[in-house]
Amino acid sequence: MQKRDTVALNLTESHKTVQNIKKRGGFTVSIADAAHVTEADYFGIVSGNKEPHKFEKSGLTAEKSAAVDAPIITEFPICLECEFVEYQSNAYGVGVIGKVVNVTADESVMVGDKVDMSLVNAIAFDPYTHGYYKVTERVGEAFSDGNKLK
Ligand SMILES: Cc1cc2nc3c(=O)[nH]c(=O)nc-3n(C[C@H](O)[C@H](O)[C@H](O)COP(=O)(O)O)c2cc1C
Repeated sequence: MQKRDTVALNLTESHKTVQNIKKRGGFTVSIADAAHVTEADYFGIVSGNKEPHKFEKSGLTAEKSAAVDAPIITEFPICLECEFVEYQSNAYGVGVIGKVVNVTADESVMVGDKVDMSLVNAIAFDPYTHGYYKVTERVGEAFSDGNKLK
């Protein structure tokens, strides 16, 4: 059965992030925007296993999630609050599995009661050239554009 409230994060088990997730039974997934690409990259290149003040050094701020035992980073526009389900470490395991129990978004990226992704300026990572790219423009309608070729 497919569950649409599930996230799967391919995270190495020894990372501080995974240890924290297991300990707290919850975690958050933030969507970083282009304005905070330096801070997002810093989170990726420094480990909390070696730098005890990792978060403080990023210069970002956080508040406690009301739904799970994890911080919500204030400066990032979208945050998924998740309960930890399991860590899959078998040969084809995907790592951290979580259940999304709440989503928060800045007013600045909302139009009515929906997030407008064109306002988020989300960053995407290209692992082949090590570049960060901005996701900005809506180019099509899912479950609909393909109908033109039927
Ligand atoms: C752009 C980028 C993408 C990364 N993607 C992953 C990933 O998908 N899975 C992973 O386990 N580590 C990934 N890393 C590496 C971790 O973020 C890195 O090992 C970090 O120091 C872990 O921090 P922690 O020990 O505080 O959790 C990535 C790093 C960067 C810069």
